[in-house]
Amino acid sequence: MLNKTISGIFLFIAILLIFGSCEKDDSEKNETKISRHYDDESHNNGQNCMDCHKSGGDGEGWFTVAGSVYDSLKTNPSPNGTIKLFTEPGGTGTWILTVEVDGLGNFYTTEAVSFDGHVYPVVESAQGNVIGMKAPTPTGQCNSCHGVTTDKIWVK
Ligand code: HEC
Ligand code: HEC
Repeated sequence: MLNKTISGIFLFIAILLIFGSCEKDDSEKNETKISRHYDDESHNNGQNCMDCHKSGGDGEGWFTVAGSVYDSLKTNPSPNGTIKLFTEPGGTGTWILTVEVDGLGNFYTTEAVSFDGHVYPVVESAQGNVIGMKAPTPTGQCNSCHGVTTDKIWVK
């Protein structure tokens, strides 16, 4: 009887420890995170967000599309614009997804997007100016190229 009670208590503690450690490890689960105009929760302008916001990474939410937009001088962030993805260049073909740029010039979403060779980004500033990528992007990790192998994403 006493043995059973003691082993019962140990089992209970073991279960608590297992569940406790899972809960603490946030990097093991995804969370829905989508940027909105005027949001101010993002950080690390210009860095590749998916270095951390990925399965197994430290960042909250595994982003599918994320990056940073700058003004025409490519120095200051361009806040509160919009990113749109289409199946053809220049905002033609079929619309795929819209992501609002936040108040710090960053955009991010955890919504599913399939990069099948037909995903063309278009950026519109808060002032209504538009600029589009001529080639399709192979990935939503916009800052993996922009600011590294090509210009920062910029719009007037
Ligand atoms: C070096 C790793 C790293 C990079 C790069 C990174 N993040 Fe994060 N991010 C984190 C971590 C860790 C957290 C959770 C703790 C915190 O809020 O600082 C986080 C949290 C966030 C949050 C959630 C804040 C909240 O309270 O809900 C947003 C939004 C975010 N990051 C956006 C971005 C964007 C956009 C980029 C790219 C421009 C980016 N992050 C780049 C590590 C990173
Ligand atoms: C694999 C590298 C790569 C990735 C990833 C990438 N781009 Fe580009 N982007 C380029 C290159 C190279 C150009 C210039 C040639 C062109 O327009 O195709 C460009 C051009 C652009 C332009 C037009 C800039 C100008 O001066 O005309 C915009 C806007 C843009 N990209 C937005 C994005 C967005 C938004 C994403 C993420 C959804 C993204 N890009 C992902 C490489 C990339």
